[in-house]
Amino acid sequence: MLEHLDRLPPDPILGLMAAYRTDDDARKIDLGVGVYRDDQGSTPIMRAVRAAELAVLERQTTKTYVAPAGNPAFNDAMRRLAFGAHSALGESDRVCAVQAPGGCGALRLGAELIRAAVPDATVYVSTPTWANHVPLLSGCGLKLERYPYYDPTTGGVAFEAMMRALEKLPPRSVILLHASCHNPTGADLEAAQWGELLGLMQRRALLPFIDMAYQGLGDGIDADAEGLRLLCAALPEALIAVSCSKNFGLYRERVGCLIALNQNAAAAGATLTQLTCIARGLYSMPPDHGAAIVAEILGSDTQHAAWRSELDEMRARIARLRVAATRALAEACPDEDFSHIQRQRGMFSYLGISPQIVQRLRERHHVYMTEDSRVNIAGLRLQNIPYFAAAVAAALRQ
Ligand SMILES: Cc1ncc(COP(=O)(O)O)c(C=O)c1O
Repeated sequence: MLEHLDRLPPDPILGLMAAYRTDDDARKIDLGVGVYRDDQGSTPIMRAVRAAELAVLERQTTKTYVAPAGNPAFNDAMRRLAFGAHSALGESDRVCAVQAPGGCGALRLGAELIRAAVPDATVYVSTPTWANHVPLLSGCGLKLERYPYYDPTTGGVAFEAMMRALEKLPPRSVILLHASCHNPTGADLEAAQWGELLGLMQRRALLPFIDMAYQGLGDGIDADAEGLRLLCAALPEALIAVSCSKNFGLYRERVGCLIALNQNAAAAGATLTQLTCIARGLYSMPPDHGAAIVAEILGSDTQHAAWRSELDEMRARIARLRVAATRALAEACPDEDFSHIQRQRGMFSYLGISPQIVQRLRERHHVYMTEDSRVNIAGLRLQNIPYFAAAVAAALRQ
């Protein structure tokens, strides 16, 4: 039976990682994989995470099952983090939340929930969007369409084109939005634009499905959730897929949460039963360890503050790298405009160079990035920025 299966092409990011690993040039730079890196180029376990992990291990007396919805303390903490400590939505009976295996698991849970509610629903994703949105959202049978988002001429959001496209959508269309730190472009909506988007969503009865994978890595925990909070305070329904992979550095532990805002408490109760049933059918229960760590951190004022200050350091490092990379590129490539890098937020930016130049950078200069020229800014180090900028200039000239 299995002999009829076609061999699939390798995942481009995994291929890039493998090529980087086998490159033995000392100057090599990996800007491909989307993980945070420190000044030494490593992705360390956060100090707050390490301390909480030890406390969890010390206290834990059993490894018996938890539940399809996961750890209740974690789910409550995720709601408060997303909506804000003083928001009524943190405690509202219109909201339900279930732990999921990473942001990916939360996105898939949300997609399955939409399919259960409206089997022929269409989800609209930005052009471009994170590549994995496509299999995660369409894999359960939902239709997937696109709306314009990125304007390469400004390095910002093509807001008018986006609004024109959304204005034409039928009611009950689902709009996938990035809360902040848009992946892959780094271009985010401004506060006033979120406000306009809210008006449109109300007028057109659209459902926001908000992917929040980088809370705290753009402008701060609260600033990065501002748009999401604005929509959720005014709309009857919303879905939010949260990931703790980047802001807690818990990647491999698979920690995420799907939060659903419903019209009323009865609807929230029904949604919760649907979500637990979907989780049961997909993976039964989410892994416990990472969520227990997050619940431990967010459940203590001191640990919470310690985690936030580490996250602040990470965000400040990315901001420094953005400024330094923009300056170095401006000097090395005076005929090009890379100033958008400094204006953008989060881990990613597009360089805006062709696939041929991307290939040249990899083959001749040992600088690795995805074919669309997305770079993980956190993969740079202040020490190698001059080499990076010189390599870009040389590849553009060659
Ligand atoms: C935009 C976006 N959403 C969601 C995720 C989910 O990440 P994970 O499943 O590792 O938590 C990622 C990870 O790279 C991402 O970039």
